[in-house]
Amino acid sequence: MNILLTGGTGYIGSHVATALISAGHQVVCFDNLANSDAAVIDRLAAITGTAVPLVVGDIRDGDALRGAMADHDVEAVIHFAGLKAVGESVAEPMKYYDNNVRGTLSLVQAMADCGVKTMVFSSSATVYGQPQYLPLDENHPTAATNPYGRTKLMIEEMLADIAASDPEWRIATLRYFNPVGAHDSGLIGENPNGIPNNLMPFISRVAAGRLNELSVFGSDYDTPDGTGVRDYIHVVDLADGHVAALDAIVQAAPGLSTWNLGTGQGYSVLDMVRAFERVNGVRIPYRLAPRRDGDVASCYASPERAAQELGWTAQRDLDAMCASSWSFERTLAMRNTG
Ligand code: NAD
Ligand code: WQD
Repeated sequence: MNILLTGGTGYIGSHVATALISAGHQVVCFDNLANSDAAVIDRLAAITGTAVPLVVGDIRDGDALRGAMADHDVEAVIHFAGLKAVGESVAEPMKYYDNNVRGTLSLVQAMADCGVKTMVFSSSATVYGQPQYLPLDENHPTAATNPYGRTKLMIEEMLADIAASDPEWRIATLRYFNPVGAHDSGLIGENPNGIPNNLMPFISRVAAGRLNELSVFGSDYDTPDGTGVRDYIHVVDLADGHVAALDAIVQAAPGLSTWNLGTGQGYSVLDMVRAFERVNGVRIPYRLAPRRDGDVASCYASPERAAQELGWTAQRDLDAMCASSWSFERTLAMRNTG
């Protein structure tokens, strides 16, 4: 298929691009480069041996979207484009509703105009809010706790209404748990601007000496070692989950389906630190710090529905996540030194 990836030069989109090309699809990236670099396109070409077109544009620009879909005979869209920093969404909610919610409305309108009604959407485990039970399955009640999460919930509801209104739509909503790691090549990975909010990029930068020490947010949670537990999933496994979800919605009856993409295994912050140190032979200085506002003690998936309905399960373990994160961090360091 010819597939448009909104946000395709971002962290997850770029990995999904490689997986789709390996599976025989053609991809086009559509990105405003708000949080990514056009050089990712050259790296995708180096990894896949295929030239990937990039349309620099904003999803709030319907004409640009319609032009890209017509020019590239697009048959399906995978929608990654969005802003994702929880703290920023609390400080600047209008920016998030405008970019994420209005942007998605603009996208689905342009898709309908072009007769493209197959879509995979990047949602998040954040839509489950405070877990009422674990592991989290797709029937767990939803309740966002911050504006970012609310944009994801609003988009999920909008997509459900669209699927209900017109039987030609085929929509997959994928609820990601905690994507980490990088492509085996070391050429693409997660490289946030400024000080990272998320654990794995923070650990990598401490290991590289770019940051002094990790603050472990909370050591008195009701977890085995007192630190927060999450379901970290290798981004390459996550990418394969998108290929499986797209295949499934193309083959099954139209409508909207929701799948968790996680491993089902929880690791604590200190598990992550120790694994990163052991696998990569580095030291991660850390200090125990107060809890971070809005954090939950534990969050991990039931990946059963995806296993049964998509035939997909995560294959890569924590060691592979840590090794690939460090390999990407070292590639960045080499790039920066010349
Ligand atoms: P990312 O920031 O690396 O990628 C998002 C891409 O979208 C960037 O390249 C950015 O430039 C682009 N973009 C943003 N707004 C745009 C707009 N208006 N028009 C065009 N392009 C725009 O983030 P990511 O980690 O790859 O996340 C991809 C998606 O997955 C996001 O929707 C995010 O909310 C969701 N998600 C991410 C995580 C995670 O932990 N990384 C977890 C759950 C869900
Ligand atoms: C993981 C654990 C922290 C940084 C966030 C979003 C969520 C989703 C994924 C998009 C927690 C601890 C972290 C640090 C630490 N994104 N930590 N020191 O909070 O599970 O989820 O990213 O949808 O919406 O909320 O991920 O990587 O920030 O934190 O101790 O410097 O690491 O307290 O226990 P989180 P994270």
